[in-house]
Amino acid sequence: MTELSSRIPGFHKMPVEDRVRLVAERTGLSDDDVAVLMNEGSLSLETANRMIENVIGTMGVPIGVATNLIIDGREMLVPVATEESSVVAAICNAARQCRGGGGIVTSSSGPLMIAQVQLVDIPDPENARLKILERREDIKAICDQTDPVLLQHGGGFRDLEVRLLETAGGTMVITHIVVDCRDAMGANAVNSMAEALAPHITQWTGGRVFLRILSNLADRRLARARGVWLAEDIGGPDVRDGIISAFRFADADPYRAATHNKGIMNGVTACVLATGNDTRAIESGAHAYAARTGRYRSLSRWERDADGNLVGVLELPMAVGLIGGAVKVHPVPQILLRMMKITTADELARVVAAVGLAQNFAALRVLATTGVQKGHMALHAQNIAIMAGAVGPEVDAVAKALVAGGKVRVDLAEAELRKLRGG
Ligand code: MEV
Repeated sequence: MTELSSRIPGFHKMPVEDRVRLVAERTGLSDDDVAVLMNEGSLSLETANRMIENVIGTMGVPIGVATNLIIDGREMLVPVATEESSVVAAICNAARQCRGGGGIVTSSSGPLMIAQVQLVDIPDPENARLKILERREDIKAICDQTDPVLLQHGGGFRDLEVRLLETAGGTMVITHIVVDCRDAMGANAVNSMAEALAPHITQWTGGRVFLRILSNLADRRLARARGVWLAEDIGGPDVRDGIISAFRFADADPYRAATHNKGIMNGVTACVLATGNDTRAIESGAHAYAARTGRYRSLSRWERDADGNLVGVLELPMAVGLIGGAVKVHPVPQILLRMMKITTADELARVVAAVGLAQNFAALRVLATTGVQKGHMALHAQNIAIMAGAVGPEVDAVAKALVAGGKVRVDLAEAELRKLRGG
């Protein structure tokens, strides 16, 4: 192993194989490690090498299918990509228990993205604000000319907002352009528009333009999901009230809200990842939206309806697309979108919200009843069995023994394995 230097001129230009070998040599990876890295699953190294820089492999994440879902009256099989055990089972359970109430109903505010242009050094911000607002038609023309393809597909400039922002560096004038991105996530489209607009804003106001970039707080692109769980399908009024109490706890306490919303994102991110979309954009948007009142709160809301059933609603920014980025380049999202028969980004956004709501129901139900550890134990035990070296049918046998003993630990798994192998 040569001594490690992270300075590798020309690294990005190397063929992937040479790159992997060089990293292996410098970091002490074995030939077997190299073989794992070079193992092409559903994403070829050639494609991966076009997606990001300095590729040395791809990483497989399990894709599970969430069953039992009825979304807007349609039976759907929804793929989710996640490394976390219990996520898929949780969605399936929640969806099964929601069928009696008709499944999950969704809606959206439409695919509107916001881009921001930051203007500083303005002695007369009020004046500048109105000067920009007066140019609405010019701004529309500049934006629409920037992306004629989006225009052809029925998208383009929709709205203009100009905000005065008090900062430690004085008052800034922040222009928001609101753009209908149709089936694109829209980052490229709105960033180009903001950049095209910037010099005009300088010219109209005399200020200095700095940042020109989309906002991930996509609160003009909201996806909503609503479901009714019949009290008798979820274990009765006590379970219903327990779930409502769990929601109230999260809504009042940021410490709990972070975990509550993490549960929602277990479903959301897994669905976003499976469809090749930008998980970080969705996550930052969701958490910023959760804090929009000035306090970090629950993204979902739970209540009891007049018939005594449980109602859950979820509303969050959902900037997902069907074109651009990894969605089109990676072969797997294409297949999964076909599997779901999804043809518009809006539909995808709504399905993701439905999965997030189902996931939240499942987490709150389990927390309000048995607690999470019981359910986690069986799957966790399998992972521990594998860590202990179990293979094939040994995995189930060792896991079962661990669960029966009520303790899931690697040392105990190793002991079980030795017993099983007659040692
Ligand atoms: C675990 O990944 C998610 C939960 O912690 C969510 C929650 O607490 O609501 C179970």
